[in-house]
Amino acid sequence: MPSVEVPLQGTSDPLIRQLPVLGDHRGSLIAIEGGSTVPFDVKRIYYIFGTQPGVERGFHAHVALRQLAVCVAGSCEMILDDGRERTTYLLDRPDRGLLIQAMMWREMRNFSADAVLLVLADHAYDEADYIRDYDRFLETVNSLT
Ligand code: TYD
Repeated sequence: MPSVEVPLQGTSDPLIRQLPVLGDHRGSLIAIEGGSTVPFDVKRIYYIFGTQPGVERGFHAHVALRQLAVCVAGSCEMILDDGRERTTYLLDRPDRGLLIQAMMWREMRNFSADAVLLVLADHAYDEADYIRDYDRFLETVNSLT
């Protein structure tokens, strides 16, 4: 499967969202509003931190859930796989969000010790929305196209 590496800066990838920085002499502030900064209503927020060295997370897709991931401190890599191509995004800045659409297999790795990965989601947690088996993911994606 083709594989691409994408840094979060200097790219026109539509999945990468610039988040407006409201800065002044005191420092920086970013506000994310559902329906404008992110193209969905935010129903859930979670964040991943204190990730142990060498840990890899994710390894699932969602049937319907849409998410925006922002590494607000430190860095990590997010691999998105649409069944045809795998793209590795380096999440290393608090002012860029990565949109994760439905039916995207995702894997996260290379978390720095100080990484805080903030995720905004458009639905409440629902285990029934998860596809945790990669072969089933591929079958489902291929049946949609
Ligand atoms: P898990 O799906 O393993 O995280 P990841 O895919 O990012 O590696 O989630 C870890 C645990 O947290 C698991 O028991 C499910 C639970 N969880 C919730 O209860 N609510 C949530 O919103 C999320 C994302 C996970």
